Amino acid sequence: MSATTVQSAPAASRHAFPDPGEGVPTISWPIVGIFTGAIAIFAFSTWAAVTDRLPVPVTILISAFAIFMLFTVLHDASHYSVSTHRWVNVAFGRVSMLFVSSLISFKSFAFIHIEHHRNTNDDANDPDHFISGAAWWQAPVRFPLMDVPYLTCLVRNVKRRPRAEVLETSFLMVASVAVIVTSAFTGHLWTLAVLYLIPGRVAMFVLAWWFDWLPHHDLEDTQQENRYRATRNRVGAEWIFTPLLLSQNYHLVHHLHPSIPFHRYVATWRRNEDAYLARDAAIGTVLGQQLDPHQYREWKRLNGKLARLLPVRMPRRSSARAAEFHSVPVASVDRLTEDSVLIRFAVPDELREEFSFEPGQHITVRTDLGGEGVRRNYSICSSATSDTLAIAVKLIPGGAFSTFAMTQLRAGDTLELMTPTGSFGTPLHPLAKKNYVAIVAGSGITPALSILQATLAVETESRFTLIYGNRDADSTMFRDELDDLEAQYADRLRIIHVRSRDPRHPAHLRGRVDHARLEQWLDSDLAAASVDDWFLCGPVEMVTDLRGRLIERGAEPNCVHVELFHGYETSRVADDFSPATIAVKLRGRQHEVLLAAGDTVLESALKAGLEAPYACLGGACGTCTAKVLLGSVAMEQNFALSQAVVEGGYVLTCQSHPTTPSITVDYDA
Ligand code: FES
Repeated sequence: MSATTVQSAPAASRHAFPDPGEGVPTISWPIVGIFTGAIAIFAFSTWAAVTDRLPVPVTILISAFAIFMLFTVLHDASHYSVSTHRWVNVAFGRVSMLFVSSLISFKSFAFIHIEHHRNTNDDANDPDHFISGAAWWQAPVRFPLMDVPYLTCLVRNVKRRPRAEVLETSFLMVASVAVIVTSAFTGHLWTLAVLYLIPGRVAMFVLAWWFDWLPHHDLEDTQQENRYRATRNRVGAEWIFTPLLLSQNYHLVHHLHPSIPFHRYVATWRRNEDAYLARDAAIGTVLGQQLDPHQYREWKRLNGKLARLLPVRMPRRSSARAAEFHSVPVASVDRLTEDSVLIRFAVPDELREEFSFEPGQHITVRTDLGGEGVRRNYSICSSATSDTLAIAVKLIPGGAFSTFAMTQLRAGDTLELMTPTGSFGTPLHPLAKKNYVAIVAGSGITPALSILQATLAVETESRFTLIYGNRDADSTMFRDELDDLEAQYADRLRIIHVRSRDPRHPAHLRGRVDHARLEQWLDSDLAAASVDDWFLCGPVEMVTDLRGRLIERGAEPNCVHVELFHGYETSRVADDFSPATIAVKLRGRQHEVLLAAGDTVLESALKAGLEAPYACLGGACGTCTAKVLLGSVAMEQNFALSQAVVEGGYVLTCQSHPTTPSITVDYDA
């Protein structure tokens, strides 16, 4: 969105707060960790200085680093974001304050700091304006004196401060002066300077620079006038600057949501980025360039190329022992095409590990529509290297859930989501140099999109070709996202759009993705033997046809991965299979179940009231996978498990009939 568009946004939406989706934790363990680490570092540098183990400048820098860390604890404590227990914040704040500045009590500091938040950039009332409003040549002199305006502010407001707080601060000031004078008279002033006074000033210099100067200087709006433009984020090279600045490169998030602990700033920004940009949030790069929202989006797109040089988060499987449902709020519902929507979920912190996923996995959505339980399985379309969990839902005429998603589902609603399952993707390795091809049609793009994003991010030497069939441009899901990815990975990603009803599309790419067209690609630049892994997703006929042809043309069967949204209809004869007894291991418990003649293992488990996982019931999704520990079964159809997995003893329980009188299956394996 451009700045011009923003100006025309309705006043209400400009001033309503985006929901940060973050709260104060019972206890913030990262802050506890920083506090403990900083105290240990300070103790070490003190010991090293006293025993002459390290040169004086080195111990000064190490102590200054510890004080810098303790300021972050103090800062979060002053916003009561270390813990939901007030006394915990006060305890952490009081101890940290002694290291940062012994002249002011924690309560006085918290008061003055809140004055800064209330009056940011107001030269008369913002105590930090002493730093942020300084001319560039004054800044280095003012940085180490940052506590001077704090003391001035306190003196100005002394009459309205509680007596106990004033007494505490007065006592600290007197005690500090007494310690310095005593040190001078006893010949220990230099030791005190090396251990505490000089490191304190060095830390203050850096704190003033990073907490005040970088986020606030040169911004003209005050907090009262426009809170989105009184503070800025410094974007770029987050992999180094976020840990180095302890997240203060995203200081704007702190000013918008002061009670969020520092380690959640970047996640909060990413979750609400569109909402902040719609409010014309102030953004600068680490090199000092100021960006409006439109320029920021362009900058992000171009920097995607650089991003591949940076470390990325490796995809991880869900930590859940067996697939199970959780209530998860919907973060947003956005239209993709006329008949499809993108649903993003706001996964709560405590469920993040359970909802981590690998590329190509899917989730099952369960909801009650008009009193009827509905369960649908959707591939995750977001990248497994990101923090986002998203699915795309395409309208199926008469489809209960897809109609509901298109017409009624809204951000803030809650859905029951099963933890991710499935094994469509392949393991990724940062040093791999492979050649991948995905052939998909329609909503078959969803798992392929997740796979190609994660693959290109993790394997910086690998190449990816996407062949994507649709009716026309308008019905193409993720058209813009794919354009962006193609621009971002121009040298490694090739996208071939095949369109069946688009007269303006190039003639050689007009029609369906089928057997004949595959032959042409195989004969030109996609020789089956040169491709390491194939991913096929779309209508069952297309997928099975292409898979057969690829294997005939030399592709290794284990390297042709297929994902179907449903299997074939089967016509089972109950008498074909006998009754049996089944021991079902599920979520750490074992249950004995009787299986009636003709029932599948899954059916008998469900009839016995067990919450066994399932979704498609057609042998396509793999959600019902379990390991056979004892006995044997016959599967009617299997479109989800590779030969190697089946040989490992795994079966689709929705398709499995016992062929021995008793069996044991383990859903937790
Ligand atoms: S429930 Fe989908 S394969 Fe069994």
